Amino acid sequence: MTSTPVAIIGAGPAGLLLGQLLAKAGVDNVIIERQSPEYVLGRIRAGVLEQITVDALSSVGVDARMHQEGLPHHGFDLLFKGQRHRIDLADLTGGKQVMVYGQTEVTKDLMHARAAAGLQTVYSAGDVAIHDFDTDKPRVTYTQDGQTHTLNARFIAGCDGFHGVCRASVPPNAIQQFEKVYPFGWLGVLADVPPVSDELIYANTQRGFALCSMRSPTRSRYYLQCPMSDSVAQWSDDAFWAELKNRLDPQAAEQLVTGASIEKSIAPLRSFVAEPMRFGSLMLAGDAAHIVPPTGAKGLNLAVSDVLYLANAFERYFKEKDVGGVDGYSEQALARVWKAERFSWWFTSLMHQFPELGSFNQKVQEAELEYLIHSRAASTSLAENYVGLPL
Ligand code: APR
Ligand code: PHB
Repeated sequence: MTSTPVAIIGAGPAGLLLGQLLAKAGVDNVIIERQSPEYVLGRIRAGVLEQITVDALSSVGVDARMHQEGLPHHGFDLLFKGQRHRIDLADLTGGKQVMVYGQTEVTKDLMHARAAAGLQTVYSAGDVAIHDFDTDKPRVTYTQDGQTHTLNARFIAGCDGFHGVCRASVPPNAIQQFEKVYPFGWLGVLADVPPVSDELIYANTQRGFALCSMRSPTRSRYYLQCPMSDSVAQWSDDAFWAELKNRLDPQAAEQLVTGASIEKSIAPLRSFVAEPMRFGSLMLAGDAAHIVPPTGAKGLNLAVSDVLYLANAFERYFKEKDVGGVDGYSEQALARVWKAERFSWWFTSLMHQFPELGSFNQKVQEAELEYLIHSRAASTSLAENYVGLPL
């Protein structure tokens, strides 16, 4: 039987960053992850980092490759009624920007830093379960190599994603869940072709939403709105590229470089928040507590703000015997979560086709997009949310 101040469940970006922040503050921690490192790194997720995320990674010294390979972006294009319009993030926000650097790379960099620091991570843990988190002596049990292990802790950080065990272990009457499921998905393709444009393009078209993103000057990430009833097998590479071209403006369609896909998947879109984010000695962070639809790429950035608050709360508890941070964590985190939920829901509603809402909805979307690009106040609201609201 071993023990640690903080047992972290899940080695996604939330768990790994929390581990580094705690280590820097002198608070030891153990991560229990149900998958192998290779599996964790095989997941492809969004790739737009707010400045707070860049700063958090820099604060734990995990920023060298990001600054070398990441792409700072000062704006993006909105495409509607066949024309592109630039949103100048830097101009609208007093010089702020975002960093395009894949979540997979962030995770890899954090994993390497954790290994280099000699912090304990248990990968491929079976039957992970949490116990007694309504007391100040919670426990984690898991199996490995056919043996059951117990880890005692003062706190458990539930960083185990939407399908994890932590939120699911909370008695239903102690938790309130808010959810919105969208009637479509995103078909994503990753391909080793140069991006169609230097900046991202978010497209509202009568055929559905499209997004042109990238991972590097030679690797592109594209998405198409599709019915959730579609299957990946239905979408050949040729069909994907033809549909993407159909949703772009003539210049972008002309410039689009196509090639073999190296990943293709369909992701559902969901808004979800669980309240509160603390249950006695169990604190939830990241996707374990909330999900946003990917329009605007807030998921990873929200996980980062949660763990910044949480690391600070734990540091106060262990270093100063001050329970204020732990007691205030849920309220503090939820205030920022709901603002990002609102923005992600709004940007999703603005950019996608909702066939059940009819042509009136499309006309209102177009009117709002016109307003957005012609009103500095409206553009500023979009830009300040896109670069990330203050902590
Ligand atoms: N026991 C241990 N680990 C678990 C369990 C379990 N029962 N269930 C899930 N996990 C692990 C998963 O295998 C995964 O590695 O928890 C980790 C959760 O990682 P993520 O799903 O990446 O969630 P998070 O770290 O909160 O990152 C948020 O990920 O989904 C995106 O949009 C989201 O970008 C955001 C980011
Ligand atoms: C991505 O690059 O995967 C991406 C970028 C921006 C988004 C969503 C996803 O809004």
